[in-house]
Amino acid sequence: LAVSVYKDEHIASIKVARRIADIIIRKKEKGENAILGLATGATPVEVYTELARMHKEEGLSFQNVITFNLDEYYPMHPEAKQSYVRFMDEQLFNHIDIKRENIHIPDGTLKKEDIANYCLDYERKITEVGGLDLQVLGIGRTGHIGFNEPGSAPNSGTRLVTLDDLTRRDASRDFGGKENVPTKAITMGIGTIFKAKEIILMAWSKKKAPIIRKAVEGEISSSVPATFLQLSDNVEFILDEDAASELT
Ligand code: F6R
Repeated sequence: LAVSVYKDEHIASIKVARRIADIIIRKKEKGENAILGLATGATPVEVYTELARMHKEEGLSFQNVITFNLDEYYPMHPEAKQSYVRFMDEQLFNHIDIKRENIHIPDGTLKKEDIANYCLDYERKITEVGGLDLQVLGIGRTGHIGFNEPGSAPNSGTRLVTLDDLTRRDASRDFGGKENVPTKAITMGIGTIFKAKEIILMAWSKKKAPIIRKAVEGEISSSVPATFLQLSDNVEFILDEDAASELT
């Protein structure tokens, strides 16, 4: 696990966007698709803004890009204000030239009995296109990556999970109260994330400093799922100074 600290979220986000653009360009030169694992939430917003700018102003094309998002609330209608489908459209997809059929986001409208097969299929699709070249992650204050809450196994796959109470509290503003936040989500597993060729975890602000300290320096344990990332050489934590402020 490598840790890079940048002065602020803005500079760090531009670095990450550049890394993503470089993968897309390198793959394009080889006539291949770039397979990207994407996150939602506040953390990656500036990365997506910068990618959209690169598309508009520098002609960066996403025609050879295939995306898989980490997670979606369950149940969740794609048109709902809080859906991750809507988030991705508004933050990124509506502003670039990605092919609609290349976008994958877990489906929050499935019937319960169909979820298990759907999740296996989600994994299969990632494998079929050659696996994720890069997975972008944020981190929750519970130590979750994707929605792999405390207790998640390191080899877990895409599945239906129950959200931690703290995660629901943190989401309550978006939903106008914790009671409106879904109790469940469909998320890629830790095992799914681990198969990515490269993983970047981003975190900004003092609010994330305590969990970043645990994730980087704490004992590896399913009680803080992000600690599993310590086991991989392909992981880079990209932090602003505030999020890194409790590292020793
Ligand atoms: C979102 C996701 C979550 C978030 C995490 C941090 O797709 O998988 O793990 O990355 O909850 O959220 P923000 O960035 O809003 O602090």
